Amino acid sequence: MRVYDIIKKKRDGYPLTSEEINYIVKNYTDGKIPDYQISALLMAIYFNKMNKRETIDLTRAMINSGDRVDLSQIKGIKVDKHSTGGVGDTTTIVLGPLIAACGVPFVKMSGRGLGHTGGTLDKLESISGFRTELTIEEIVNISNKINITISSQTANITPADKKLYSLRDVTATVENISLIASSIMSKKLAIGSDAIILDVKVGSGAFMKNIDEAIKLAEEMVSIGLGYGRETVALVTNMEEPLGKAVGNALEVREAIEILRGDKYSDLYELSLQLGSRLLVLAKRVENEKEGRLVLEKVIESNKAFDKLVELVQYQGGDIRQIENPELLPKARYIIEVVSDKEGYVKSLDAEEVGRCALMLGAGRDTMDSAIDYSAGIVLNKKIDDRVEIGEPLAYIHSNDKDKGEKVRGILKNLYQIGDKNKEPKKLIYGLITKEGIKLY
Ligand code: URA
Ligand code: CA
Repeated sequence: MRVYDIIKKKRDGYPLTSEEINYIVKNYTDGKIPDYQISALLMAIYFNKMNKRETIDLTRAMINSGDRVDLSQIKGIKVDKHSTGGVGDTTTIVLGPLIAACGVPFVKMSGRGLGHTGGTLDKLESISGFRTELTIEEIVNISNKINITISSQTANITPADKKLYSLRDVTATVENISLIASSIMSKKLAIGSDAIILDVKVGSGAFMKNIDEAIKLAEEMVSIGLGYGRETVALVTNMEEPLGKAVGNALEVREAIEILRGDKYSDLYELSLQLGSRLLVLAKRVENEKEGRLVLEKVIESNKAFDKLVELVQYQGGDIRQIENPELLPKARYIIEVVSDKEGYVKSLDAEEVGRCALMLGAGRDTMDSAIDYSAGIVLNKKIDDRVEIGEPLAYIHSNDKDKGEKVRGILKNLYQIGDKNKEPKKLIYGLITKEGIKLY
């Protein structure tokens, strides 16, 4: 087989065979094919696309490029969740304890933040002592005791995806449905959970900027998961503005604590219940979503969900006093108010740009190894469709650097587009994709 011929075939619009896909993935992972040839192939895939069979072959080849994580020692139907990335997306820290408190094992391997999106591991590490690097043995033991672990990927999972993703990132070939679906699903399927819920984001802060494309991506991922015998469903959800109120690591942990303690008034609460009730159905813990929702509301009221977060922090080495009293979490020196000089309704609040503001304050990483300021970030007081009066606070900036905080104040104020009420009220959920098909909301 010649790489040249494979590139030419895809360039001319023909599907690649399973053997050709395996050959490319294996030899690229082994360092036997240069980046420039794979770059050309990726661009050909970007333009000419892959069919379903090719996408499944690519997923399988990437899974086979590395280790698999065997979770069969953990009792029960193990569930996993994945979000395609967003700003202020604190869902895992809310959803995990909720699900585990219902007696369903939530075994999650998470990532770190890069660029304008946050990462669950960074958020959890804002808790003193919290250990995200667990061995497989620890994951099994802790999950069997308390039904939850949230850890980093220790094993050598899908090295092919790591190489391909880095190359896509610098060759403008990220935004292709087959490439995204195979990248995400290979990582999920290499880990032996039984049921997976996917939260596919759409909007300014997400990879997918339009709903039709996001639904196609969700369909593709669900069909790959089902093809592998895993119960898989996807929700397509709004990422036009940040999720919840807080953006920034310790601030988001605090937000998760508030929700687990009964604060019901946010999109983050609602999304956690929407995802959670479906996960409970997949795990056969309840018959339907309605029942799932009731069970979830109950574990919040009875404090079991909050206690589960405390337990998670305790078993992974964190300081539980910071959960019991969030005042002890890292705090920024300055809290700067962003005040409105207009009245009306919030029309838009670009999620990606808010993410960039948080990054400027030190809440995220510019490069893989930059340090994070756990206390830095933004708390939104107003969100899209909210009424605003002149002189009312729009948001609060948490910063250890006064000048940076002032600079962000100016930017954030301009990000708030205020005017007449939007014609259509915003939606949190656009669609649900299951083995039965697509349901639009
Ligand atoms: N996240 C991934 O892991 N892979 C992609 O291709 C896009 C988002
Ligand atoms: Ca949030």
